[in-house]
Amino acid sequence: MDFISLDIHDYQALITIDRPAALNALNNAVFDELSLALDEVGRSGARALIITGAGDKAFVAGADIKSFVGLDDKSAAKLSHRGQRVFQRLAASAIPTIAAVNGFALGGGCELALACHMRIAASHARFGQPEVKLGLIPGFGGTQRLTRLVGSGVALELLTTGRMIDANEALRIGLVNRVVAADELMSACEALAGEIAQQGPKAVAWAIEAVNRGRDLSLDKALELETELFGSCFNTSDAKEGIQAFIDKRSANFSGE
Ligand code: CAA
Repeated sequence: MDFISLDIHDYQALITIDRPAALNALNNAVFDELSLALDEVGRSGARALIITGAGDKAFVAGADIKSFVGLDDKSAAKLSHRGQRVFQRLAASAIPTIAAVNGFALGGGCELALACHMRIAASHARFGQPEVKLGLIPGFGGTQRLTRLVGSGVALELLTTGRMIDANEALRIGLVNRVVAADELMSACEALAGEIAQQGPKAVAWAIEAVNRGRDLSLDKALELETELFGSCFNTSDAKEGIQAFIDKRSANFSGE
């Protein structure tokens, strides 16, 4: 792969988007490679996935603006679907995903971070949906995921001004979980991934499913979904192991079954 590197160890996978000449901007090749990397992560048995950008300047500076020249409505819709499909794989993934935001997360880069389940930002990170400055709107899920995360008033301010915000402002509006010093970013993400990787993988996957699917249901239906998934937990070896480990006063050893 030319633009993505993948490292898997200790149940943790790390995807790095590495296209320094364009501040890691997303083009078709990056999307293809990201898809392949996600296939590999799915096969690997990893229990948490961290996504970051190479270097210390950019997480991802957006979709590749230079590739927009000459697009018409149909080819732009195709590009939008392609990006949305890959990002939806992340959002719906049974493996929890953490964006390690190490610099500019703009446009498609902010949308990539939004598609991850959690976000930790370096203190110099900058976020924004600057598409309006190009006469565009986000096409990789930003209008919807930003709104769901921070609410429509704050989302619309970002979407209609294209303004960039710093990491502390991102924390204040709930766009990121945490802000850390740049040199602590990867260790903070690895510590979080490691903590998740020790839990029952099926329960982790079902917690994600309950939150993701429940958000789009009425409260009654969402609670029913929770009940259904809670019940399913009791059919797993992991729940038997977790409960027995508590009674035995020892650490649980989860198999993911
Ligand atoms: N696409 C293509 N190339 C990009 C890029 C992008 N999104 N972002 C940066 N680059 C390139 C620059 O063109 C430049 O290349 P050259 O040296 O060949 O000119 C190189 O990366 C370095 O960038 P700058 O010289 O601009 O660096 P800077 O420090 O002066 O500014 C920046 C950094 C503020 C991030 C600026 O690069 C910038 O504003 N980038 C564009 C951000 C943006 O608008 N993103 C949204 C894209 S649209 C989108 O994502 C739509 C969607 O939802 C589908």
